[in-house]
Amino acid sequence: MKKKLIIDVDTGVDDAQAIMVALAAPDVEILGITCCHGNTPLENVLKNTLRVLKVCNRLDIPVYKGCSKPLLARGRHAGDYHGKDGLGDVPDPNAPDLDLLQQRKAVKAMIKIAKENAGEVTLVATAPLTNLAVAVQLDPSFPKKLKGLYIMGGNTESRGNTTMCGEFNFVADPEAAYIVLDRYTCPTYIASWEFSCRCSLPWSFCDEWLSKTTKKATFMKKISALSMTKARSAEYQKEITAGKGLNPCDVFAMAAAVDDALITESNEVAVTVELEGTHTRGMMVLDYMDLLKKNHKAIIMKKFDSEKLKQMLMNALE
Ligand code: RIB
Ligand code: CA
Repeated sequence: MKKKLIIDVDTGVDDAQAIMVALAAPDVEILGITCCHGNTPLENVLKNTLRVLKVCNRLDIPVYKGCSKPLLARGRHAGDYHGKDGLGDVPDPNAPDLDLLQQRKAVKAMIKIAKENAGEVTLVATAPLTNLAVAVQLDPSFPKKLKGLYIMGGNTESRGNTTMCGEFNFVADPEAAYIVLDRYTCPTYIASWEFSCRCSLPWSFCDEWLSKTTKKATFMKKISALSMTKARSAEYQKEITAGKGLNPCDVFAMAAAVDDALITESNEVAVTVELEGTHTRGMMVLDYMDLLKKNHKAIIMKKFDSEKLKQMLMNALE
C-alpha cells in the first residue's frame, strides 16, 4: 500500500526540495499540501507551492490555504534567505494562478483527510506549526488518527538559526510548537536544526546534483541560486552549526517520512518548548531528567544514511 502523506509547508527552497523528494518516491501518495506563513508571507507560499507542482506536472495535488499569522508571536519571516518571494526571486511569468487552490481551508482539510484515512496518513511538517496547533484545537482527536508526524524544527543543543537559541519554524510560532509537542501523541520524529547541519551534504554533491539537465534540475538550480550563494559564503559558514555544505533542512523530515530506514540513530525523549525566555523563547527543551512526567516521547533524529538521502535527491530532479 502506498504511504499516504499530508505535507504542511512554508514553501521556500528546502520545502520545494522536500515536496519534489516526495513526488519522486514511487510508493508515496500525497493526499494534500497545506500552506502556512513562514519563510515568506502566505500568498507567496501558495504561489511557490503551485510553481513546484507545475514543474513536476502534478497540479492535480490539492493545495490548501492555512494560517497567515502565528498564534500569538509577532509575525516573522525568514528574512530574504530564500529571496523576497521565498523561492529565489526568479519569478515565473506563467506561474499557476491561485484559483487552483482548494476552497476548503487547510486545517479543515487536514482533519477531513485524516478522518477519511484513519491510521494511514503521515503528516510531514516543514513550516511553523500554526496549522497543526489549530487543527488539534479544532479536533482534539486529530493526532490519534495520524500514523505519524515528521517535523523539521527545533533544536537539541540550544543552537539557533534565527535567534541565538531559536530555530526558525519553532521561533516563528513558539506557542504552536508547544501545543503540537504537547498534544500530538502519534509517533513523532524530529529533524532538528543541529541535526540538519551535521548531516549537510558536500558541496561537491550539490554541484553534481544541480548539474543535471532535466527541467526539474534547471528549476531547482534557478530557485536555489540565491540561498546557495549565501550558504556558501564565508560569513554564513563561520557559524559553528552552519552547514558545511548543502543543508536541505526540510528534506530530512521528508526523507525520513518516505523511508524511516534512513534514520540510522535516534533517541527518544520528552520535549517541550520554552515560551518565556528573553533569549530562549522558541527553544526546544529536552527532558532527559523526566521531570515533566510526559508519557509521550519524541524520536530525535541523530544520524542519517547520507547515501540513501543523496539518491532520493537525485531521483527528485529526474
Ligand atoms: O530552520 C529551517 C526551517 O525554517 C526550514 O523549514 C526552512 O524552510 C524554514 O521554514
Ligand atoms: Ca520550511
